[in-house]
Amino acid sequence: MIQKHYFTTFQNHSQSLVKKKFIFVNMKIENITCIGAGYVGGPTMAVIALKCPEIKVTVVDLNKERIDLWNDEDLSKLPIYEPGLADIVKQTRGKNLFFSTEIDKSIKQSEMIFISVNTPTKTYGEGKGQASDLKFIELCARQIAKSAESDKIVVEKSTLPVRTAEVITKILKSSKKGLNFEILSNPEFLAEGTAITDLLYADRVLIGGDSTQNGQKSIKALVDIYKNWISDEKILTTNVWSSELSKLVANAFLAQRVSSINSISALCEKSGADIDEVAKAIGMDSRIGSKFLKSSVGFGGSCFQKDILNLVYISKSLGLTEVSEYWHQVIKMNDYQKNRFSSIIIKSLFNTVSDKKITLLGWSFKKDTNDTRESAAIYIADKLIENKALVSIYDPKVSEKQIYNDINYLKTRSSSDNKKHLNVHKNVYDACENSHAIAILTEWDEFTKLDWGKIFSTVVSPAKVFDGRNLLDNQKLEKIGFEVFSIGK
Ligand code: UDX
Ligand code: ADP
Repeated sequence: MIQKHYFTTFQNHSQSLVKKKFIFVNMKIENITCIGAGYVGGPTMAVIALKCPEIKVTVVDLNKERIDLWNDEDLSKLPIYEPGLADIVKQTRGKNLFFSTEIDKSIKQSEMIFISVNTPTKTYGEGKGQASDLKFIELCARQIAKSAESDKIVVEKSTLPVRTAEVITKILKSSKKGLNFEILSNPEFLAEGTAITDLLYADRVLIGGDSTQNGQKSIKALVDIYKNWISDEKILTTNVWSSELSKLVANAFLAQRVSSINSISALCEKSGADIDEVAKAIGMDSRIGSKFLKSSVGFGGSCFQKDILNLVYISKSLGLTEVSEYWHQVIKMNDYQKNRFSSIIIKSLFNTVSDKKITLLGWSFKKDTNDTRESAAIYIADKLIENKALVSIYDPKVSEKQIYNDINYLKTRSSSDNKKHLNVHKNVYDACENSHAIAILTEWDEFTKLDWGKIFSTVVSPAKVFDGRNLLDNQKLEKIGFEVFSIGK
C-alpha cells in the first residue's frame, strides 16, 4: 500500500511548540490550492478537477467579485469566456472544485499550491517597460510562508522570468518554521479560446524541478496528477531553469512567426503578391509548417509581448546585446503592423478621419475569448481617436466597461474625451450605421455571417471595409459595392 505521508514532531524549546512536518515520502496529493482565479488558473484547475475526482481543488483569489462570479449559479456569468469551460465547471463545482477568497485556510489544507497570478510588464522603476513585475508572485510566496503549517510543493504556473523559482525559494526558506518547500515550474501552454482542448489534449506537459531527492519526489507527485489524462511520453521533466526558459522561448518563437509573416504582408501589398498564397506555399514545407502564419493586424494577448520583453531584458542584463536586439525586433514589427493598419485607414479616407464615424468589429485579442490584454484593437482605436475620429465598437463578448478601461488605461487623453469619441454598441448593425469605414479587428466567426448587403445600405459612400484578419470574402463584398482592403493583398 502506498504510504501517504507521516508526521514527525519536534520540540521548539524556546516556544514549546509542536510542529507538524510533512515528509516527502511516496506522497499522494489530496488537496490542491491554486492562487489566482484568472485565465490560466480557472480553466487549468477545472480540468484537473474533472480528471482527478479524488483530489479536492480550491481556486482562491483576492478579488471577491471574481470569485463570486466563479460561484454564480448562472454559468453564463463566469468571469472568463472560454468554449467548453462552463460545462466542466457545471460538472465539478461543489464536488471537488471550489472557488474561495479564504486564501490562508486553503493554503494550510493543501499539499500542493499552484501560483497562477498575473505578472504584468513593469510600469515603473528598474526594468520599466520590459521586466515582469513580480510583486504579485512575491506576495503569494510571503502568504504561503506565513500560512503554511506543513511542508508544501509550490508550483509556478504563471509565465515568469527565468530564475523566479529562486526568488520564491528564498522567501519560503526565510519563514523559519522548519518546513520544507519544494518549487516546481510547470508552465502553461494553453492558448485562450482553445484552453480546454489545449489542456485536455496537450502537446506536452513540462515540469521542472530540483535534482534532489525531494525535488524528484515532488516532480513525480505532479507527473502522477497529469498521468490521469496525459500519456507518459508527453510529460517532459527538466531542471527548473530549462522549464522556465522554455515557456518564454515557446512564446517568442510563436510571436516571431506572426511578426515574420506580417513583415511579408507589407511587402505583398507593394509587390502584388498575396500573403495568404505565400503563407500556404511556405507552410507546406514540413520544416516550416502551416501554423501561426496567418497575417493579421498584429498579435496581442497577455503573453507574447510580455514574454519577449522579458527575454529582451534578461539578455540585455546578461550583456547579450545582439540576442536582446534580435528579439526586440519581433515587438517592433508588431507595433509597425498595428500602426500601419491605422495609417492605411486614415490615408484611404482622404487623409482625415476627423468627425468621421469608423466602426471597429472586434475588441478581444483573438476570437473565442473576452480577454483584451494587448489587443491590437486598443492601439488602433487610440490612434484613430487621436486623429479625432468617432469610433464605434462592437464585440460579441467584451463588455463596454472593459473597452473604456482599456482605452483609458493608455492615458493618451482624459476619460471624458474618450467618452466623446468612443461608442460601444450591443448591435452590430447599429455599430455600422452611417460609418465611413468598417475595420475587422478580431476574427469572430459571426462577422462572416453578417448581412453585408444590409450594412452597405446604411453606410456612407464610398463604402469601405478594412479586413485586419483576412476573414471576409472580398469578391462578395466588392460585388455588393464595398471597397475592400485586406492585409497583404
Ligand atoms: C499564447 C500561446 O499560443 C500559448 O501557448 C501560451 O500559453 C500563451 O500565449 P494566446 O496568447 O492565448 O496563447 O493566443 P495565441 O493563439 O497564441 O494568439 C496570440 C496572438 O497572435 C493573437 O492576437 C492572435 O490573433 C495572433 N496570431 C496568432 C496571428 O496574428 N496569426 C497567427 O497565425 C496566430
Ligand atoms: P492569467 O492570465 O495569468 O491567469 P489573470 O489576470 O487573468 O492572469 O489572473 C490572475 C489572478 O490572480 C487575478 O484574478 C488576481 O486577482 C489574482 N491575484 C493576484 N495576486 C494575488 C494574490 N496575492 N493572492 C490571490 N490572488 C491574486
